[in-house]
Amino acid sequence: MRHLAVRGFAATAASRAATVKPPNPKSFKIYRWNPDTPTEEPRMQEYKLDLSQTGPMVLDALIKIKNEVDPTLTFRRSCREGICGSCAMNIDGKNTLACITHITKDAPNKEMTIYPLPHMFVVKDLVPDMNYFYKQYASIQPWLQRTEVTDVNKEILQSPEDRKKLDGLYECILCACCSTSCPSYWWNQDVYLGPAVLLQSYRWMADSRDQQLSQRLSKMENAFSVYRCHTIMNCTRTCPKHLNPGYAISQIKLLLAKN
Ligand code: SF4
Ligand code: F3S
Ligand code: FES
Repeated sequence: MRHLAVRGFAATAASRAATVKPPNPKSFKIYRWNPDTPTEEPRMQEYKLDLSQTGPMVLDALIKIKNEVDPTLTFRRSCREGICGSCAMNIDGKNTLACITHITKDAPNKEMTIYPLPHMFVVKDLVPDMNYFYKQYASIQPWLQRTEVTDVNKEILQSPEDRKKLDGLYECILCACCSTSCPSYWWNQDVYLGPAVLLQSYRWMADSRDQQLSQRLSKMENAFSVYRCHTIMNCTRTCPKHLNPGYAISQIKLLLAKN
């Protein structure tokens, strides 16, 4: 028994040694700005991690830095699986979600650069101020609206074909990656609703159960809310959920032409 136990131990130690990963250094350059020291300019701070000790995603790296290197680093995150939208940021030049973006391993010594979502006011470090974005979202009244008196105890039925029209729309997690990649939104944010809010608006326009299409469109009959979209399509290229806000906007333009 004793002999077997020693052999078992030796085998376990050997297999552990075989799974110890060699060090894999990687640099992360991260945007820093602290509202408590407003006279200090924003700066890029470099952190070095050993990827053999870090999870595979950019959010894993940020959490490791915060937990073990620098607790002052500030960012938003919640679900860590691409459904809450809170970890949206600009990673190596692309707006995306940190929790579903792999740390690039192909060029291990090349640094990754991480900024907050572009053209938004910064609350701190990687945290953008989303207040205006949410205000714009609220302005489209994103809920089911009926003109008929509806029995609240009865389901409002929808055919499978009508339900299908919502595919590619209902999945939007309002991360704002698309809106903050749109040059038109950068320059006209005060008057242009931007691709995220317009896709959400079209989600209700396309819903067979909603009865406010005409009113929803009337609010957009001006030169700015929709028509500041110049079909640049950065929005669709960057969406981490592979949705197509550019297409949704084109559908709103068609409906406006018919209204
Ligand atoms: Fe995010 Fe895509 Fe929705 Fe835009 S359309 S808010 S990028 S999920
Ligand atoms: Fe902007 Fe997308 Fe239109 S990038 S201009 S919202 S197609
Ligand atoms: Fe929720 Fe990334 S943490 S989408």
